[in-house]
Amino acid sequence: MVRANTLAALAAFSSLSVHGFDLDVKSDDSIKSTASSIASVLVGYYNGNETGETPGLLPEPYYWWNAGAMWDTLIQYWQLTGDDQYNGIVSQALQFQSGSDDRGDFMPLNQTKTLGNDDQATWALAAMSAAEQDFPTPENTTWFALADAVFNEQVVRWDTASCGGGLRWQIFTFNAGYNYKNSISNGDLFQLAARLARYTGNTTYFDWAAKVYDWTTSIGFIDDEYNVFDGADTTQNCSAVSKLQFSYVAGTYINGAAYMYNISSGDDQETWKTELDGLLKKNLDVFFPDGIATEVSCEERGTCNTDNLSMKGIFAQNLLDTIKVAPYTGDKILKVLSSSAGAAASACSSTGCSLAWNGTETESGDGGVGPALSALSYVQGLLVGKAAAPVTEATGGAGSNSSGTSSGGSGTSTNSTGSGSPTSSGTPAPTTTGNAAVALGSTMGMGGVAAIMGSAAWLLL
Ligand SMILES: *[C@@H]1O[C@H](CO)[C@@H](O)[C@H](O)[C@H]1NC(C)=O
Ligand SMILES: *[C@@H]1O[C@H](CO)[C@@H](O)[C@H](O)[C@H]1NC(C)=O
Ligand SMILES: *[C@@H]1O[C@H](CO)[C@@H](O)[C@H](O)[C@H]1NC(C)=O
Ligand SMILES: *[C@@H]1O[C@H](CO)[C@@H](O)[C@H](O)[C@H]1NC(C)=O
Ligand SMILES: *[C@@H]1O[C@H](CO)[C@@H](O)[C@H](O)[C@H]1NC(C)=O
Ligand SMILES: *[C@@H]1O[C@H](CO)[C@@H](O)[C@H](O)[C@H]1NC(C)=O
Ligand SMILES: *[C@@H]1O[C@H](CO)[C@@H](O)[C@H](O)[C@H]1NC(C)=O
Ligand SMILES: *[C@@H]1O[C@H](CO)[C@@H](O)[C@H](O)[C@H]1NC(C)=O
Ligand SMILES: *[C@@H]1O[C@H](CO)[C@@H](O)[C@H](O)[C@H]1NC(C)=O
Ligand SMILES: *[C@@H]1O[C@H](CO)[C@@H](O)[C@H](O)[C@H]1NC(C)=O
Repeated sequence: MVRANTLAALAAFSSLSVHGFDLDVKSDDSIKSTASSIASVLVGYYNGNETGETPGLLPEPYYWWNAGAMWDTLIQYWQLTGDDQYNGIVSQALQFQSGSDDRGDFMPLNQTKTLGNDDQATWALAAMSAAEQDFPTPENTTWFALADAVFNEQVVRWDTASCGGGLRWQIFTFNAGYNYKNSISNGDLFQLAARLARYTGNTTYFDWAAKVYDWTTSIGFIDDEYNVFDGADTTQNCSAVSKLQFSYVAGTYINGAAYMYNISSGDDQETWKTELDGLLKKNLDVFFPDGIATEVSCEERGTCNTDNLSMKGIFAQNLLDTIKVAPYTGDKILKVLSSSAGAAASACSSTGCSLAWNGTETESGDGGVGPALSALSYVQGLLVGKAAAPVTEATGGAGSNSSGTSSGGSGTSTNSTGSGSPTSSGTPAPTTTGNAAVALGSTMGMGGVAAIMGSAAWLLL
């Protein structure tokens, strides 16, 4: 099923690759075939497309948000590998779970008991990925409209009654965690706003993103060393911050900062670059001990719960987005991405993946959705150099729904950013307000990123 590996990869992973997939990180064929095998494992946990089941949902013990993260992963799978075989179930899932027709805000009534701001944002970010990657357009709406609806709802929930601002974790007062403001809910809103800002050029999103980030640092959820902490209780006015650290929380802030860097200019851009560099350096150190992605708060003690198991995969996706919009970070990121990808592949077999990738587990095990989603994210991520840049409202969209593979994977189409002229990058339409000059992302297609990242040296361990 998976190609034999090369001598170089053997040397690098010989201690890890006894039972799992062998991945040659320098071969696109090997990467695609390994990704395909892991994607098949991941989709194997889903039965929502079968008669009598509910589209978009994973069976117990998975939460609603786990499914949202899985659809996002599979949109990226399509974009990175060009394999469109799962596009149908992904599209159906996102539409079916998008909530009532008039709102399209990812608040389906069935999920009320577990639906916090972070859960809702996970689905909105999947819709955002669909918009940015020109995923085939849904029937009665647009991917942008779904993401935008969530943004507009969440900003109304911004709560200045305690902690000087911030989103609460939960939306409904009756859910446990209502009295908690956490970094993942606020970080996901930050990321969503930053991506919407780039997609539309609309400064409303940009200003909100900046506001959320400023609040996060002022309340101490991000400290001076760029550690990103979990959250704090509103009943104590956020005076005692929980110091737990999770990779995908750092990832969501890195992701948002990269977009803010991309769309700002002058001093603003320097400021965002400082934040991005600080967050990246610290959190690559924290979450990649010995170059291997690790959910440090629970993995080392073997206490990860269902929620914790997909976090490092989402972190990988955040890092890939970062490379796309801040290409200068690619060198640093791809180093840990490729060392982790090889290790992740070895921890997977056709029956599942295990969470620990550092060689202490001698066999791949069936850890369920989280480890499979995570392993897939690292493996397919090695193709990021050939992926199209995220499109914008101006460059994406029309006509791009005709083929499931129109903008993914091939690495050769110059039309991959949609209908915009690839030569118009010198003439973006900047909208200037207040402190920010928001220029629409340049319409330069994959050529730019590919040129920077095409070198095999990037993939050396
Ligand atoms: C559900 O989707 C999977 C993955 O695309 C596919 O293999 C399976 O045949 C589908 N099942 C039904 C009942 O359509
Ligand atoms: C809500 O649950 C009912 C009963 O299981 C199901 O028929 C319906 O499709 C679900 N709706 C969504 C959006 O999940
Ligand atoms: C789109 O709208 C039409 C008409 O209301 C409806 O029949 C159809 O089921 C909708 N499609 C989806 C995917 O919701
Ligand atoms: C609560 O915290 C905010 C932000 O730190 C601060 O501005 C506000 O004064 C505090 N309120 C009380 C009552 O301590
Ligand atoms: C900018 O986005 C906000 C939030 O969706 C929206 O209310 C506003 O109308 C948009 N402005 C323009 C000029 O499109
Ligand atoms: C797993 O993540 C949840 C947040 O979803 C957190 O509350 C919990 O403490 C984490 N588990 C461990 C063992 O760190
Ligand atoms: C691998 O991870 C385990 C548990 O996370 C840890 O105890 C061990 O020291 C690590 N081994 C190596 C070789 O890094
Ligand atoms: C912004 O993103 C585009 C698309 O990936 C990229 O070509 C461009 O270089 C980025 N801008 C900066 C300043 O890195
Ligand atoms: C795809 O785009 C064409 C126009 O290019 C449009 O006529 C068609 O309705 C679209 N289909 C879907 C499913 O969005
Ligand atoms: C790419 O887009 C240009 C301009 O829209 C068009 O003339 C050309 O035919 C397209 N090429 C392909 C391969 O679709």
